[in-house]
Order: sequence, then C-alpha cells, then structure tokens
Amino acid sequence: MSIRRLPLELINRIAAGEVVERPASALKELIENSLDAGASQVSVRLYAGGLELIEVADDGSGMNPDEMHLALERHATSKLPGDVIDQVTSFGFRGEALPSIASVSRLTLESRVRGADGWRIEVDHGERVGEAPAALPPGTRIRVEGLFDKVPARRKFLRSPRAEYAACLDAVKRLAMARSDVGFALEHDGRRILTLQPAEPPARVAELLTHELDRHGIGIDCSRDGLRLTGVISLPTFNRGIADQQFLFVNSRPVKDRLLVGALRAAYRDLIARDRHPIAALFIDVPLDEVDVNVHPAKTEVRFRDPTAVRGLIIGGLRHALNEESQRSAAREQSAAPVMWVTSESYRPEPTLTTDISSVQDEQPILDPVTFVPQARAEPAVQAVPSYPLGVARGQVAATYIVAEAEDGLVIVDQHAAHERLVLERMRAAREGGVVARQVLLIPDVVELEEPDCDRLEAAAAELAEMGLDLERFGPTSMLVRTVPAALGKTDSAGLLADLAAEIAELGGPMSLRDKLDHVAATIACHGSVRAGRVLSVAEMNALLREMEVTPRSGQCNHGRPTWVKLAHADIERLFGRK
Ligand SMILES: Nc1ncnc2c1ncn2[C@@H]1O[C@H](COP(=O)(O)OP(=O)(O)OP(=O)(O)O)[C@@H](O)[C@H]1O
Ligand SMILES: [Mg+2]
Repeated sequence: MSIRRLPLELINRIAAGEVVERPASALKELIENSLDAGASQVSVRLYAGGLELIEVADDGSGMNPDEMHLALERHATSKLPGDVIDQVTSFGFRGEALPSIASVSRLTLESRVRGADGWRIEVDHGERVGEAPAALPPGTRIRVEGLFDKVPARRKFLRSPRAEYAACLDAVKRLAMARSDVGFALEHDGRRILTLQPAEPPARVAELLTHELDRHGIGIDCSRDGLRLTGVISLPTFNRGIADQQFLFVNSRPVKDRLLVGALRAAYRDLIARDRHPIAALFIDVPLDEVDVNVHPAKTEVRFRDPTAVRGLIIGGLRHALNEESQRSAAREQSAAPVMWVTSESYRPEPTLTTDISSVQDEQPILDPVTFVPQARAEPAVQAVPSYPLGVARGQVAATYIVAEAEDGLVIVDQHAAHERLVLERMRAAREGGVVARQVLLIPDVVELEEPDCDRLEAAAAELAEMGLDLERFGPTSMLVRTVPAALGKTDSAGLLADLAAEIAELGGPMSLRDKLDHVAATIACHGSVRAGRVLSVAEMNALLREMEVTPRSGQCNHGRPTWVKLAHADIERLFGRK
C-alpha cells in the first residue's frame, strides 16, 4: 500500500462532491456569497434548470484581482477574521464553495470594487484559462456553465432540467425569505420569474408563498430564555396536502431540520388531519454560542446546544398563537364561494329552513326524498333573534347539519365535527382541572389485541388513567377495560383501544406527556361524538351551539376542518342577485 497526498484539483473535486450536489446547491453558495458581500440586489439567471448556466450578479463589495485569485483557492475566506468559528454570522465560512464549483464547471468570475476597474478570471474545471479587464458595475458577477459536464458520475444523478429548476427556485426562495431587506430577481430560460423589492419579512413571505396568508395566516412573535421566535403560520383550516411550505431560519440561515417538522406536528396536533400540513415560515434567533453551524458541508443543518428548548419554544409559541385564533376559522371565506351554493334549474332554494316542517310536508318535496329528508322540528322565526354569535337553531338538514339563524346571517354547523371538538375540549378541561369523571363498567370489557399493541397500551396505562380510561393487562394478547371517560358515554372499547394503540405506535419517540395526552384525547373524543345521521332535538341543537360559543378552539374539528360556516346577510343577498 502506498499512501500519497492527493493533487489539489482532486481535493477540490472531492469537496465539490459534498458542497455542490446539484445546480441548486451551487446557486445557493453563490447567492450566499453575494449576501455576505453586503449586496442590496441579487440577480440570478438560469438556463435549463442551471445545468447550462447559472449566473449570479450582485452590487456588493466586489473584489480586487488579488482577492479574486484568493477567492478561487481552497480554504481561503474573508469571513473568519478572528479565526473563531463559533461566532460566525455570515452564510459562508469554510472557504471552499468557489474552488469546489470551479473544479466541476467552466466558471467566469468578474468583479469590481467601487472606484476601481473590473477584472475577469476564467477557470475551466479547476484550471485557470484566462484573465482580462472586464466592464461591469461595482459588485461581482459569476457565471457557471456546463456544471458536471465532465463528471459523469455526478451527471447521472441529476434530474431533468425541470426538476433541477424547481430545486433552484426553492433555493432562491429560501434565501429571499431569509433576507427580505435585499432585492432579488430570477430569470429562467430567458423568462422573468421573480422580481422582489426589499420588504418587511411578513410581506416577503406572503409574496413568496401565498398572499392568502394575509387572511389565513397567524403572526408569531415570542421569546423565552434568550431565544426569539418570529414568523407566520397558517390557520389549521388553511392547509396543504404536502409539507412543502415549511421553512425554518436560524439566525437568518435557512436550515432543513427535522426538528421543525416534529414541532409543527405537535403544535397542530388535533387541529389538523394527519395527512394535511400547515404552511410555516419561522425565524429563530439564538445567541451564537447556542448553535453550531459547522455540522454539514453544505451548511443546511445546524446543531442546537439545547434542542429541547428550541422545540419547546416552537410548540409553545405556536400553540399559544393557535389558541388565540381559535374562534377564527377560514370557513367563512371558503363558503363564500358562491359556486357551492348556486341553484341549478332543477334545484330551487329550500324554503323549509325557517318554517315549521309540518307546513311544507304536503307540498312536493323539493330535494331528493331518499337522501335528503329534512329532519328538523324547526322554530318559526317570529321572535327577534337573541344575539348569540352562532344563532338559534332553526332546523337540522340530512340529520348531519344544524341550521341556525344569527343576527348577522345564516349558520350551518357540522354536528359531528363540532361535537367531537367539544368532547375533546371537555376532556382537556377536566384533565387540567384534575377531575376526570370516569364511568365504571359493571362487567369489565376484555379486548383482544396483538401483543405489541397490548405492550404499548400497558406502557401508557398511567397516562390513559389520567383521562379516565383504566386499563389492565389481561394476558399476552388482551387488555381489561375497567372504566371509560364519562365524557364519552357509551363506547365501543375494542375500537377505541385499537385506535389508541395505533396512535401511540405512530407518536412513538420522545414526546411530552402533554402532547401525548392531547393526541390520545382527540382519538377518544372522536369515538364519543354524536355521529352524523343522528336526529337532534331543537334543545340539543341549541345546547350544542351555546357550548361551542364558550369552548376554545371550537371553530375547527380535531382534523382541522371547519365545524361551522356562516353566510352573512350580504352573502345571501349576493346569492340571490340582490346586490
Ligand atoms: N459575490 C462576492 N462578492 C464579494 N466577495 C466574494 C463573493 N463571492 C466570494 N467572495 C469572496 O471569496 C471568498 C471565497 O468564497 P467561498 O464561497 O469559496 O468561501 P466562503 O464564502 O468564505 O466560505 P464557504 O465555502 O462556506 O462558502 C469569500 O470569503 C469572499 O471573500
Ligand atoms: Mg461562500
């Protein structure tokens, strides 16, 4: 065996393997350099998703020719003046991005310091092939062409220009969110994609994600123990099918951290369905010695000295904000879309909402009698409507929806969703008050389950008991249920236990007791709720409405769907073309 030192070019290429994985990572490094150079405007041009060309131009400090040569050398950086790596505030500090990119592409570096002439250096796969004076405004312009053309191993792993473009766009967005005070422009294949003026962070985030956040977003601003959390999250009712719009910034650095995913999940637990995802852009500011940024060559990960504190801050801050917004629901805006309410020719407006059902029964039914028999004993609207926010019940539709009249409009409530929420909140309140009513089963239920599920339930027995569910192991594959939470009424214990076991398996990991209890309570609540299809008396309907009004978070069901919608009088008038 003979050990030898590798030639510099090979060293750079090996480093490039870590730093420059695809066009988007080269682009990210170049934009970060521009930002570190104090640019107030960064302009990006791409061709073929960056595979043919990546060009980044800035109006930052620029470099003189000597500095340009150094910049292309490995381990040359201007960013660690005191040689202290744990006090880094710049994006870069490793001094390897430029030489790495230059070793796997044709790179042209042009730069000009204010008050001096510009200079250009051309590098072809690590080899300097030319330099000359260059004409450009003060700042720096870097062109990267044919990235990985001569690195077949890497080329093989690249995706289509489309996919590479998507990754580039994501990189630009993350940095543009991180630095809203800087203007950005992006062009792809000659088309202008983004033009961003300097802005405040919330406006920048809304511009890059969706302006809907103005209406459906909640601003976050809280601090604890020297950590500060700001940003915006979406209302639970405004969610997405994939978790592609969740961004975390630590001291302005965009990072990809599993911690965010978990913390968001915990914060929205029981407000949003498991397969739906909130939108979030969260900015954490921590003292420099609380975080290590040098854990990944691409600098996309950080390590917190105290991750639990960060997680706690995110979950606590978000839950607090969500609670405050709990009565607000995106429902009203959603339902206002007239298309859901439009009456076709064969579908005349339903006249029974405010009339006693008996008076219309002998008329020709207007709606399909099989699927849509009106069930309500409705209240004639003769008296003035008392000013309850959710109104007084006027009837029930399809044994599923309560129709109520409020002072300012028509309210429709999904009875199952609403009741589920109420049961959950009731259980939660009881738990917090320390008194959980339990219902003792005269004959304990024996429930058969798989052994691992029994193990899980047995391990969680103490927490479950706290919610009024007393369980005992009863042999390897069965559990004994002695009491159930009184809030539930009559329950199918087998179904409940199976769901709970699945729930606990899914939650796994280290979770706070509180989070766990919340989640488990949601599962229990779902079992104990009034099902769609149950006919309710007017008194029951009104009781439900009144309880919703005083219950926190009653605007959404445990899966993040709205529990009620309101059509304001103006909306109704619009539907009938009166406005
Ligand atoms: N757009 C730019 N404007 C001004 N100076 C630049 C620019 N890009 C690079 N430089 C200079 O070149 C040096 C090397 O850049 P390079 O990206 O290789 O390393 P770095 O940014 O210091 O660290 P890292 O490898 O972590 O990015 C920088 O430290 C900076 O001084
Ligand atoms: Mg850099």
